[in-house]
Amino acid sequence: MPDELTLTDAWEETLIGDRSFYRGPDGDPYRHFATDIAGSAEILPLIRELLAFAGDCDGGPLTVIDVGSGAGGLLARLAMTGTNTRLIGIDLRPRPAGLDTAIEWITGDARVVAGEILGIRGVVVAHEFLDDIPCAAVEVDEDGRPRLIRVDPSSRRLVVGEPLEDPADLAWLDRWWPVTRPFMRAEIGRSRDAAWAMITGMLDSGAALAIDYGHTRPERLGGTWDGGTLVGYHEGRVVTPVADGSCNLTAHVAIDSVAEAAPRAQSTRIDHWSSAPGRADFVSLVQTFT
Ligand SMILES: C[S@@+](CC[C@H](N)C(=O)[O-])C[C@H]1O[C@@H](n2cnc3c(N)ncnc32)[C@H](O)[C@@H]1O
Repeated sequence: MPDELTLTDAWEETLIGDRSFYRGPDGDPYRHFATDIAGSAEILPLIRELLAFAGDCDGGPLTVIDVGSGAGGLLARLAMTGTNTRLIGIDLRPRPAGLDTAIEWITGDARVVAGEILGIRGVVVAHEFLDDIPCAAVEVDEDGRPRLIRVDPSSRRLVVGEPLEDPADLAWLDRWWPVTRPFMRAEIGRSRDAAWAMITGMLDSGAALAIDYGHTRPERLGGTWDGGTLVGYHEGRVVTPVADGSCNLTAHVAIDSVAEAAPRAQSTRIDHWSSAPGRADFVSLVQTFT
């Protein structure tokens, strides 16, 4: 199927390329889905707790970096508390109008920007960021072979392609999401692992917090996610994923695999995120670094 695009390439085009959903005129995330970052009662106490941990570490000025910071709501809430902490937002989207001038803002791909920021003491937050990172996906055929999901270049719809052969992808599936049942689908989390390694790499000491739609290996093994999780979002609704930039593409995050991508972490805590009652698939990951 030589003309078909890889899912990752087509998805990247809808994230940072010519068809970028977020950079397009229609790409204000809050038009399409509600995140709980602005209203959550739990997030500020947790960030304060993590900042207190970072405060006990040696290093430069205490800093909070919000990766994929959207409208800057979390940083604005922190700024309102009168904190002396340096506050930095990174997003594909431009600096939101009216954002507190004390908040620094970097417009760019966080996976690249993070490589240019080193030696941070503080807290790195990624709230509903990792699920946006393009990844490969497979569907198992009737003979039990995982086949790559590809994208038709004209309709930009997903199609099932050739058997997966990439040894690193096969090893990831084997370790994190064994694909054993015909017609099950699975997303391959290597790109999310790499993104987490990049953004936690900014930290010299302190803590990193990811909150996202996610799952863990026991759930995956048990079949809870056999249908896969890749969907499109548009104006508050789940829509058929079409990689043309008309909808936001998202897939749940294999949060335990992401955690292992930060080998410098001294402690790791994975929980359900309690501010989302009824959302059993909303998870948090906290890792500390010294
Ligand atoms: C679902 S919104 C979440 C925004 C905010 N964190 C919140 O929870 O309200 C995802 C945000 O991540 C940004 N984003 C996605 N991929 C990104 C990337 N590679 N680099 C920087 N920002 C990115 C999008 O532009 C968007 O503002």
